[in-house]
Amino acid sequence: MRDRVLQMLQEKNEFISGQELCENLAVSRTAIWKSIHVLQEEGYHIEAVRNKGYRLISSPDVLFSNEIKSHLQTKWFGDKIIYLESVDSTNNEVKRRVETGELENLLVVSEEQIAGKGRRGRSWKSPRGTGIWMSFVIKPELEPESAPMITLVAAMACAKAIREITGLEASIKWPNDIVVNGKKVVGILTEMSTEMMYVNYVVVGVGINVNMEEFPEEIKEVATSLKIEAKSEISRSQLVAKFGEQFEKYYQEFLDKQNLSSIREEYEEYLINCNKEVAIQQGQDRWNGIALGINNNGELLVKKQDGEVQVIRAGEVSVRGLYGYV
Ligand code: BTN
Repeated sequence: MRDRVLQMLQEKNEFISGQELCENLAVSRTAIWKSIHVLQEEGYHIEAVRNKGYRLISSPDVLFSNEIKSHLQTKWFGDKIIYLESVDSTNNEVKRRVETGELENLLVVSEEQIAGKGRRGRSWKSPRGTGIWMSFVIKPELEPESAPMITLVAAMACAKAIREITGLEASIKWPNDIVVNGKKVVGILTEMSTEMMYVNYVVVGVGINVNMEEFPEEIKEVATSLKIEAKSEISRSQLVAKFGEQFEKYYQEFLDKQNLSSIREEYEEYLINCNKEVAIQQGQDRWNGIALGINNNGELLVKKQDGEVQVIRAGEVSVRGLYGYV
């Protein structure tokens, strides 16, 4: 009932009478009043005026499925949204559900993660109510070796969505970190299930530092949030929806070509490492070079001091700026 009342308020966007709500939803005035009360308790600002009815003035910054859906303009992203108060890791949750048969267009969002996972076995801080911790599943028809490019597609979509929603100049640190003013705001972790010649599914996990006001000592030199940089609160549900829209677009282009040729140019415009000196750490080996851009497979091209151009695959190396994170 709560969901249906909210949906009507969102669709109408002006006063809607108690009578109209009752008739449309075929329930009593008391039932409507109770739902309005629940919504107000959740932080929805709903004006109630005698003889006029109810009007939605503002929504809280929550990731409820219907909040995200009210902004979504997508074909498949977010068809099925699971909202959780808390979870170990949204990537794990998607994998658990997929393994029991829930495959199609599943998106899991959580207010917090208590065992958020980063790349290379690191953990990912995911405090309650301030970030976007989300994972979704796709089932691309691809050869397994092409699947890592999906991470770059997700990075491109995320940087674009952040630019559109916040106006901040979000850039990409190859392959898939998003950086604002030299500090990291987004991390992406893709995990996949493959056969020899076949991708069963890919889970794309995206963590966006949205409205945090401070960071723990150990990461505050390298991490920031959109709120800190934009100096204003950002709507998480709008950002999720915008990401979905962008992801669908770039992902389709990628599938059509089976490589990154159609997004390469735009990706390079966003690439913070482009034409900069970077330090490449390959196991014990560390060397410096100039990052030139990416090829159609999303590999980084780095010109060594002797002029030779080395092709760097994501996952094999760590790329740093000479004087710090970027
Ligand atoms: C990185 O190390 O940069 C990747 C961080 C990925 C974090 C996101 S948050 C949502 C999803 N669930 C996880 O456990 N990790 C990813």
